[in-house]
Amino acid sequence: MAKVCSTLLFLSAIFMLISQAISQPPNFLYQFCLDKGNYTSNSTYNANLNHLLSSLPSLSSNTEIDNGFYNVSYGQNPDKVYALGLCRADAKHEVCRSCLSNATNLLTLLCPNQKEAIGWYDYCMLRYSFRNIFGIKEDSPSFYMWNRNNVSANVDEFNQDLRTLFDSLRSRASTGGSLRKFAAGNATAPNFQTLYALMQCTPDLSEQDCSDCLGGVMGGIPNCCNGKQGGRVVGPSCNLRYEVYLFYDPTADPTPPSPSPPPSLPVSPSPPSTTTPTTKGKAVDEIISEESLQLDFDTVRVATDDFSDANKLGQGGFGAVYKGKLSDGQVIAVKRLSKDSGQGDQEFKNEVLLVAKLQHRNLVRLLGFCLERNERLLIYEFMTNTSLDCFIFGMVAL
Ligand SMILES: *[C@@H]1O[C@H](CO)[C@@H](O)[C@H](O)[C@H]1NC(C)=O
Ligand SMILES: *[C@@H]1O[C@H](CO)[C@@H](O)[C@H](O)[C@H]1NC(C)=O
Ligand SMILES: *[C@@H]1O[C@H](CO)[C@@H](O)[C@H](O)[C@H]1NC(C)=O
Ligand SMILES: *[C@@H]1O[C@H](CO)[C@@H](O)[C@H](O)[C@H]1NC(C)=O
Repeated sequence: MAKVCSTLLFLSAIFMLISQAISQPPNFLYQFCLDKGNYTSNSTYNANLNHLLSSLPSLSSNTEIDNGFYNVSYGQNPDKVYALGLCRADAKHEVCRSCLSNATNLLTLLCPNQKEAIGWYDYCMLRYSFRNIFGIKEDSPSFYMWNRNNVSANVDEFNQDLRTLFDSLRSRASTGGSLRKFAAGNATAPNFQTLYALMQCTPDLSEQDCSDCLGGVMGGIPNCCNGKQGGRVVGPSCNLRYEVYLFYDPTADPTPPSPSPPPSLPVSPSPPSTTTPTTKGKAVDEIISEESLQLDFDTVRVATDDFSDANKLGQGGFGAVYKGKLSDGQVIAVKRLSKDSGQGDQEFKNEVLLVAKLQHRNLVRLLGFCLERNERLLIYEFMTNTSLDCFIFGMVAL
């Protein structure tokens, strides 16, 4: 018991240090250090990479010619470095610039000395490599994210509406030209809901490669997100996202007005054979995302019988801890943080994600968090044989 407790305290200290150390750039949605080769710290490769990455955010400040896509290389073989940055096409210039700036700082920190790496934020993606990555469709590595909320009813109809929307966005995005391959739009879903979706390829892909790439990510949706109100499948060459709320800037891709007389929308559905996703070598991970960790306040309120005194396990300097039971029978411990921590919502979420990624399997498992109505809750698995003092006073990293 004492050992577990000191481990907890030790890890708490590490969590705090790491959270502080990386509190400057926000976490990526996800990143891969691809382990295709290492460079040494003051090699020519390192100098070339630094040169290239420092030039990326400033490239995006030339608003006259900017399309939010940057394919740049620097140096001579064998130390030549290729970097590719892509902003979501609805990102404002300033958002794009700061997103890429964060990405260039964070990716080299997270993947030290790795010759090839890739990281994604909501609004941008950054890749670099020692090999030419321009104009080439790559399906892996990729990752999924999903909205925790389930489609309430008519799942088949919802899927059909989603599919129709994706098909139309896919054809619009892939025919977008060499400067921009992006499409966003909405459709009506069952129960008076509106579906919103976007798709984007790196614009250096050919029309066919973009269409194939989008076919592949569409093929990922049933695996991650079937019956979910939102989801994303994100890869190096293309990505898609859908939600039942508006999450993009609708002015960035107004639905083209149908030209008068014959509507010129492509009517033939894409050939089925090209849409079959290949799973070969596809590193699809179930990742810890904000969406997958965020719990609904009412669920937690019900589970703890409205934070009743009978369920109160103890009180620490940071707030009170309650025992609760979820509707599926899982017993949880809920930390209700004091309301005056002065921490911003985004910082709170980032720290939760960090702790979730770092946690050790022998420790109390963080199941999720809740951030609603000025409440900040942390939900842990309840472990009867863990010392309560240790639990309450040990894990105060947040
Ligand atoms: C790169 O370095 C890491 C850490 O030192 C090591 O685990 C990995 O095997 C190396 N990769 C290659 C391809 O040499
Ligand atoms: C390489 O880096 C080390 C420390 O990072 C430094 O002491 C050394 O002078 C550097 N060597 C060269 C050749 O720049
Ligand atoms: C969604 O459905 C799954 C499977 O039926 C269930 O386990 C999960 O708790 C549901 N999620 C929510 C947020 O209702
Ligand atoms: C970079 O991308 C643009 C836009 O798609 C393309 O026209 C250009 O050929 C690419 N440059 C290189 C070096 O691949």
